[in-house]
Amino acid sequence: MTMVEHANGVEQGFKHESRFFRDLSVINFVQNHIRNKFPQGTHIADFACSQGQEAHSLAMLLSDLNHDKKYKITGYDIIPSAIEIAKKGFFVVENNKSESILFTKPPSQTSTGIHFFGSGAFALILNNLPTQTKSIIEVPEEQAQKIKKCFNDHFSTPAMTKKEIKEFLKKNFPNNKKPSDDYHIVVADRSKFANVLDFQVGDIRQAGQILNGNKPGAILFNNALYHISGAQRDDYLIARPSAARDVFNQIYSALPDNGIFSMGRLSVDHLQPSYLHDTEEIIQNGQKIRVCQNTPIHKELRNAGLEPIFYEKGSLHDSYVPAVWKKA
Ligand SMILES: C[S@@+](CC[C@H](N)C(=O)[O-])C[C@H]1O[C@@H](n2cnc3c(N)ncnc32)[C@H](O)[C@@H]1O
Repeated sequence: MTMVEHANGVEQGFKHESRFFRDLSVINFVQNHIRNKFPQGTHIADFACSQGQEAHSLAMLLSDLNHDKKYKITGYDIIPSAIEIAKKGFFVVENNKSESILFTKPPSQTSTGIHFFGSGAFALILNNLPTQTKSIIEVPEEQAQKIKKCFNDHFSTPAMTKKEIKEFLKKNFPNNKKPSDDYHIVVADRSKFANVLDFQVGDIRQAGQILNGNKPGAILFNNALYHISGAQRDDYLIARPSAARDVFNQIYSALPDNGIFSMGRLSVDHLQPSYLHDTEEIIQNGQKIRVCQNTPIHKELRNAGLEPIFYEKGSLHDSYVPAVWKKA
């Protein structure tokens, strides 16, 4: 996908761009690391923030500790129209998709509890189990409810008629072709994010210049590396991991001690297919896991001075990949 096609993709639709609490275990790791290693506060730079759902999710997860606004999050994306949406603070969530459970009452007659899909977002395990059961990560109901409450404290779902939703979509997403019945509109309470969250157009290939010595405790580029490694549309053969080298060097230089780089668990970002035989067993949080961590992109990250600190199951298979890195 070229950048022009991608830009059109953002203009035309919204559903595949990002989701609230996507890759929950990864952003949970990031926020716990920030709490533990930067108790005095720090900046988080969320590159490839798309329309801002992930940056909002992080701000919500840190909110109990952030009354004095010591944690600041800046979302950057290369596509100006995505940043415009992020700044407006209203989002479109598709009905009948896992994420919509944040805003709607679950169909209790069929549900057996609140869960998350591995690909992020909330989901219900319904009587008719989804086929991709492999990607389901169970989250204790207590945690799911906590996140749902946190979301409801920061967002509202205005009562809108179908006609109003249709007009809203027409005005804000003129190229969207799907029927308005499929969507919820959710609106951020801006006062809750003021002086915590902001959004700017920014290209991670200029990270050094953009961050300008402002050592962020975490730099995120989740589920987006394929844009700069050339491994687009799951075409691993045309990937050029060395194209990411300069970015990794800039990230290393920009991070403070204890700083982390989160890239997520999207399989194509880790360039595994021909490396899937090359796995090893490690222990993470007392659990034995099989990891794939020696692909060309992982070598580039190590050469830049980074090392894995947190592994998560790859998006397409059973082995784990290094989703978060730290300064070695
Ligand atoms: C699949 S979305 C990932 C969104 C979000 N990080 C997540 O995990 O849900 C990829 C985003 O990367 C952005 N992007 C692509 N190349 C970029 C670059 N060089 N710098 C910053 N953002 C970029 C795209 O515009 C798109 O919004």
